[in-house]
Amino acid sequence: MKRVGIIGTGSYIPEKVLSNFDLEKILDTNDEWITTRTGISERRVAKNDEASSDLAQVAAERALAIAGITPEELELIVMATITPDTHCPAGANWLEAKIGAANAVSFDITAACTGFIFALSVAEQYIKAGIYHNALVVASEIMTRTLDWTDRETCILWGDGAGAAVITEVENDRGILSTHIHTDGAGGDTLLMPGGGSKTTPISHESVDKKLHTLNMIEGNRSFKVAVRRFSEACEEALSYNNLTLDDVKVIIPHQANLRILQGMAKQLDISMDKIYVNIEKYGNISSATVPIALDEAVKDGTIQPGDLVLLTAFGGGLTWGSSLIRW
Ligand code: COA
Repeated sequence: MKRVGIIGTGSYIPEKVLSNFDLEKILDTNDEWITTRTGISERRVAKNDEASSDLAQVAAERALAIAGITPEELELIVMATITPDTHCPAGANWLEAKIGAANAVSFDITAACTGFIFALSVAEQYIKAGIYHNALVVASEIMTRTLDWTDRETCILWGDGAGAAVITEVENDRGILSTHIHTDGAGGDTLLMPGGGSKTTPISHESVDKKLHTLNMIEGNRSFKVAVRRFSEACEEALSYNNLTLDDVKVIIPHQANLRILQGMAKQLDISMDKIYVNIEKYGNISSATVPIALDEAVKDGTIQPGDLVLLTAFGGGLTWGSSLIRW
């Protein structure tokens, strides 16, 4: 059986910082509430002229440089995003043109905050099957453009950014041990962007007045509890599939939705928070991009060393959840 591994990671975070104190000026909220309830202190906001593929381009070029792969050597680009530049063509196609990956086929995956793990899973299967050799898996989001800035329960949570990984065949027991992905369509209405699709087009004054194009979070409390359960289940599934335990894992790289969700997961899995990589205070929830950004930071700050067992896990709108266990 071929083993597929990550040979380069990269990320890009826009420069502009939007702090909780900035939000205090436009919303009935305060730094203390946001920090205590979510763990978020600030988030980043893309420039007006930046689209998701622009953020993805920088992350992808950084990952390619580390991998030592040229854009022309890429055969596949899978981009996770719920905020593509356009619905047609796919966000991945804009990216393919921008990085000059003329020999790659490209397409998007819509799996909200679990998008990177879904994209990784899809790209992994193509390489395992011997169809392609070099693939770019990228997640990029401009969540701040989907928000109703008067909805204080939702808009304080989100930010912008991109993360990428180059994957190929690897040897010496390294690489992705397994990837597990799940959906529950029946729960999809708890986190959705109702407008912009065939259900609500053509876009009308009425649909805009009703803010149908913005991200709706229904009963954040309910998805909070489901998230804790699904994050934990996804970790347990990956470990039991590989006959490994949490003691074998160096670090869990989870989707960063809310610090309290991660604390709930630590409690449920009976592990210390030291084993869970957290950077939510700096960026908030960047949907699909949080996992590859955190992975890239953990590689660059030395948290992840060659040979370490790394467990990715995510939960998000859709509903979607999943995990991937990787020998680095
Ligand atoms: N600032 C100040 N007060 C706020 C506020 C804000 N930004 N947002 C909500 N409140 C208020 C509410 O109005 C409520 O007031 P009330 O008690 O007078 O009615 C109070 O704070 C508590 O609200 P509640 O919804 O119970 O807070 P919570 O502890 O559940 O936290 C979330 C709310 C949204 C932060 C939390 O539920 C969450 O993060 N859920 C997960 C959502 C998510 O990330 N889903 C996707 C997973 S990928």
